[in-house]
This record gives sequence, structure tokens and C-alpha cells, in this order.
Amino acid sequence: MAKVQIEYVCQNCGAKSPKELGRCPVCGQWGTYIEEKTERQMIAQKAPKIISSGARPLKLHEVEATPEIRIDLHNGELNRVLGGGLVPGSLVLIGGEPGIGKSTLALQILMKLGEIKTLYASGEESTKQIKLRAERLDGNPSNLFILSETSLEKILEYATELMPDIVVIDSIQTIGTETIDATIGSLSQVRECAAILLRFAKEKNIPFLIVGHINKEGSIAGPKVLEHIVDTVLQFEGDQHYMYRILRAQKNRFGSTSELGIYEMQHNGLREVTNPSELLLSQNHEGLSGMAIASAVEGVRPFLIEIQALVSSAAYGTPQRSSTGFDGRRLNMLLAVLEKRVGFKLLQKDVFLNIAGGLRVNDPAIDLAVLAAVLSSNMDIALDDGICLSGEVGLSGEIRPVARIDQRIAEAEKLGFKKIIIPAGQKVSFRPKQIEILPVKKVAEAFRHILKN
Ligand code: TYD
Ligand code: MG
Repeated sequence: MAKVQIEYVCQNCGAKSPKELGRCPVCGQWGTYIEEKTERQMIAQKAPKIISSGARPLKLHEVEATPEIRIDLHNGELNRVLGGGLVPGSLVLIGGEPGIGKSTLALQILMKLGEIKTLYASGEESTKQIKLRAERLDGNPSNLFILSETSLEKILEYATELMPDIVVIDSIQTIGTETIDATIGSLSQVRECAAILLRFAKEKNIPFLIVGHINKEGSIAGPKVLEHIVDTVLQFEGDQHYMYRILRAQKNRFGSTSELGIYEMQHNGLREVTNPSELLLSQNHEGLSGMAIASAVEGVRPFLIEIQALVSSAAYGTPQRSSTGFDGRRLNMLLAVLEKRVGFKLLQKDVFLNIAGGLRVNDPAIDLAVLAAVLSSNMDIALDDGICLSGEVGLSGEIRPVARIDQRIAEAEKLGFKKIIIPAGQKVSFRPKQIEILPVKKVAEAFRHILKN
């Protein structure tokens, strides 16, 4: 006889407990425990038997390599992030905060696919709502099926009937399977649904784009369990107040994770931003202090971004340090370097830092531009607008080499910059036509170049 057992599962990390806990001892979250029923025996019976594939060990050269098939999604940015298109039979998870544009992205892709047969299954919206959204997007699909359904079994039944080339599930937290007795959106449901989808996708060789919501911590709800199951995890991020969105690959079995796609949210959907430096070029602010331009690389693409800093006298005893789009701890470290190695007195100053366009940049090569912006604001001197910077700053104030320096210089030259400050001792094979390259060893040396004008 099946023995029904009640246990409490943390919806954040999946830890289990026989009684309800206020705070999860594993991940430290409050109020995340939810009651779930498990039928011990049933699960034991249902566990799939392990079946041998009958394969023998082969020498590497004996293994036949068939060329990979990829489905072209007619969306350059997404194709690139996926590593050259969508692999048939793969599961791709698109995670992001509510309202960032996941549904728009998924629907927009299907809209552009023309005659390719696709299925958009939504547990969140009615077919009418989806139709309204679709009307705002471009494209004229002749084979796009819309389904408003929360039962996974039903969705897969229709998928078997239609045999589409791509299926979108929007979202994994709003659909559920009948095989387990847990509320829709709970960790066990999400995990079970993903496992069923995986089996189905591989069996039928149909790729799935799965939308997933993100919880407070920025990980996909039902977090780690899903990441293990799917082939690719894409993170859709951006600041809701800005129009730019970034699509990053966090995990990719079929490509690199260093690629990234940039979009702009417009009234008729997401526009691909093929030239990221336009984020910067759209503005013009000659003569303003507290701004510096960095030649950054995100993924494998170089682009120029604007760093803004505001340094002012602290109104209260403890000075404020705040940054948007840049790691706060790194900002503190850079300010300490400025204080100790260059002799700036920032102890009594508030420092605010902002990366224009609502972008979050991880590239350490923007360090030097961050310091230049702080310097400029502190002295209230505008930097020469023909200069840009690239270099990581070390603890002793030394400028450390950065990756892809040639591309950074080339991008700066392309956009008409006259000078670029780079780390000394870095091998440059790029032959500049007009841009002047200024190698520097120390922060102080970089400041001397900046202040010369
Ligand atoms: P949505 O794709 O529903 O976000 P998610 O599925 O990630 O929750 O849409 C996000 C926002 O985008 C929504 O507030 C409305 C806006 N939007 C546009 O600006 N232009 C458009 O063409 C569409 C369809 C949506
Ligand atoms: Mg949505």
C-alpha cells in the first residue's frame, strides 16, 4: 500500500524537513517551507528502470561525428547566445524577473518563424491576451499554434498531435503534472514537470523554450534543480526603468557561455541591438564633470560605456557609497586604492556611481574609468571627451592587463575617440590609424594624462 507522507520542502533550495520551519537552516531564507505530500511506495514503483543502451566502448576516432543541426531562430542575438541556433531536442530555460520581457521574447521569436510549425503554450495568459500581445509584434506566422493550458499532460498531448518544430512553455511555474500531488509552482511540481519535459523533448526530438520566473535572490525559482535538468540556462536581465535588456547564457551544453545578446524594448517588441556602443552614443554631454568612458568587453564583444560618478560632502557622519550596475564592494576597494595610493581624501565624501543605460557590467577593465569618473567629479573637472580608458586596477594602484585589448582599441577608434589609456606592458598588435594609445603603469600616471588637457 502506498504510504502518504507529509513533508515540508523549502521552495528556495529544496531542503526537506519533517516539520514546518520558519527559517530554512540550509539557505537561510524565511517563510519558504511548504507542505508537500509524497507517496513513498508510488514513487518507488514509478522510478524508471535503468536500461542499458547496449553500447560498447569505442576509440575516439571510431566515433562518427555527424554535423550538428541547428534551427535558425531568425534572431541574431539569440542565435549567437545559443551557440549558432537552437539544437533539436534541447531544453532552453529563459529566466528573468517578472515584466522584463520573457513572454515578449518567446512569442516574438515564434512570430518571425514564418512557416515553421510552432506551439506557444501559456499557463499565464488566455489566448485572447496572447493574441493582443502578438498584434503588437511584427511577423506573420502561418503555423503558430496558441494554447492556454496549465496541465502538462494536455500540453504534451497536443504537442504529440501537432509535432511542432519548437514548443514554448510560458512559464514552468504555472503548469503542473497530474503525476504528483503538489500545488502548481511548488518545487516538486517544477522539478517533476522539467523532468517530464526533458524525457519528451529527447524522445520526440522537439526543442523546448521554457520560461522561468526568478525569485528574490535572482536565481530561477526551484533554482538549482532546474539548472541541472535543462541543457541551456539563459538569463534575461535589465533595469525595468531602462529599455535595454541583456540575455546571458549561464549554462550551455551546446555553446559557450561568454556570448551575450542585447535588446531594446520598444512599443512593438524587442529590437536587437547589434551595435552596443549606441547605448553610449545616444547622449551628448560635453563639459560635464563626473563622467568617463570605458572600453569594455562583455561576452566577446567590445563596447563603450559611460560611467557616471558623483562625489559630494557627506551630510551625516558615515559617508554613503552607492553603485548601480557595478559591484559595490569593488567600488569600495577602488576608493581605498584612490585614498591610499593616490592620496585622495574621500573619507568625508559620499560617492555615487552609475553605469549609464541600466547595464550591469562585470568586466574588471572598467576599473580605471570608474576611478577617472570619481576623480572628475571630486575635482569638478570635465574629462576630455575624446579620451577613453581600459584597465583593471590592482590593490597597489597598478594597472593590470586586460583581455582583448586589440578589440577594445579598435572599437574606441571606430567610434572616433582620439586617445585610449591602456595598461602598460600589454602586447598590442592593433595598428591604430588615428587613435593615440597611452600605456600607463599606475593610477596616478593615468590621472596625469587625463588632467593634462
Ligand atoms: P512581458 O514579456 O510580459 O514580461 P515577462 O513575461 O518577463 O513577465 O512584458 C514585459 C513588459 O514589456 C510589459 O510591461 C510591457 C512591455 N512591452 C513593451 O514595451 N512593448 C511590447 O511590444 C510588448 C509586447 C511589451
Ligand atoms: Mg510573462
